[in-house]
Amino acid sequence: MVPATARRSRATAPTGPYSVAREGSIVGETAEGTERAVVEFDPHSRGYRDDRRAVWSELRRCPVAWSEHYGGFWVVSGYPDVVEVAKDEHRFSSRYEPEPVDGIAYLGITGVPRGRGIPPAGIAEADPTVHAALRRLLNPHLLPPAVTALTPFMEETAAWFLDRHIGAGRFDLVGDFTNPVTAVTTLRIMGLPPASWEHYAGVFHGTVAYSADSPEYREAMALLPGLVGELFAEAEDRRRHPRDDLLTQLVELRGSDGELLDDGQVSAVLWNLVAGGLDTTSSMTALALRHLDGDHDARRRMTEDPGMMPLATEEYLRYFCVNETLTRTVVEDTELHGQQLRRGEYLLLSWLAADLDESVFERPDELVLDRAPNPHLAFGIGPHRCIGMHLARALFRIMVRQVLDRIPDYRVDHAGTSLYERDPSLAGVAAMPVTFTPAPVVGGPRPW
Ligand code: HEM
Repeated sequence: MVPATARRSRATAPTGPYSVAREGSIVGETAEGTERAVVEFDPHSRGYRDDRRAVWSELRRCPVAWSEHYGGFWVVSGYPDVVEVAKDEHRFSSRYEPEPVDGIAYLGITGVPRGRGIPPAGIAEADPTVHAALRRLLNPHLLPPAVTALTPFMEETAAWFLDRHIGAGRFDLVGDFTNPVTAVTTLRIMGLPPASWEHYAGVFHGTVAYSADSPEYREAMALLPGLVGELFAEAEDRRRHPRDDLLTQLVELRGSDGELLDDGQVSAVLWNLVAGGLDTTSSMTALALRHLDGDHDARRRMTEDPGMMPLATEEYLRYFCVNETLTRTVVEDTELHGQQLRRGEYLLLSWLAADLDESVFERPDELVLDRAPNPHLAFGIGPHRCIGMHLARALFRIMVRQVLDRIPDYRVDHAGTSLYERDPSLAGVAAMPVTFTPAPVVGGPRPW
């Protein structure tokens, strides 16, 4: 990292007439004789939280720039630069190694600064050899043939949860529908008991959706150790009684040293799947249905023409880009967009900023349901591209379709809706009550 003492007084901006001092503004400076574009950007500030899109629009004018907050980090906001970093894991690593390895403390992917108590993302933050082995193990469970085979289960699960509330004319679309459907499906894929969905979804949702001083957050954090203990117990059970499931394959996987993964690694992989699978897909679905509540023309088109769903899915992914930012560590001195990056420095990559980049997307701030082509980065790109993307798309389409078909006059209770408040890297919906004309149940047994 560039030490704080190396920073000089702020000079003129490197190029262009930029405004100063607003969140996202470019201030410019020279550090240790190197031109280094400096921006005022704190991802945890109120200014950023209140108007992220405007801040990114400002920051993209200097697409690779240095922020001095939290010991200093690079902010990457231009589409081509985000792609360059994400594709090159030799220069820009996703690893998480808090104790320095060859002089580098790897930050991992979960934000600047890394929050205390965040468990390692067992897949995304693994060493490259273990990462490759894990991707090979997971692919058969998450590639399109597996997702297609699971489609009847997902449809029945969505129908079952909707049935529980459809006669009441009111439910929390997130807590009663999108969270349970994504949780049950993810747990089933992992080889964990779907009947425990409430427990897993509740803890994870509580840790990401609410502010650190809320009762929901405190309750979830109190339950977290017990949940990790359950994951250990499930892993131990598969070692003793192997089954035909993902978890058994995971406890039998050997790492780069030929050794089996230990309990910590196994639970980190499971946690990564829970973290990746649950709230992202649930939130994106809720945000899309909130949009369709307000845009009657879009709602009519989506209801009348099911063929719009594939393009609309991609556009909702781009526009909401719920996993907004992730981080990397610079592995070797290198150049990016004319900036000199040093080994051991951290980068914050903004998929959201890239997906709003006007050099790639026409009218990026508009939701254009039939946008094509749509090379969005909502799932990332490169070796760490989201392994759950086919599943996420399928779940999204199934849940949106069921709502549009079965409760077509649903109305969002905006006063009762609450959005995520805690983690600036994630956009999401904590709760979203909706009302509708009560409709008949489709019936059928519980699908798990
Ligand atoms: C709308 C839904 C989703 C969004 C927006 C999303 C977004 C992302 C992004 C941006 C990455 C790239 C990480 C990086 O480059 O550092 C990623 C990776 C990942 N996602 Fe997703 N995700 C979604 C759904 C899912 C689902 C359903 C699952 C699991 C079943 C999942 C599991 C993962 C895992 C395990 C990784 C790490 C992959 C690796 O490092 O090789 N995600 N996701």
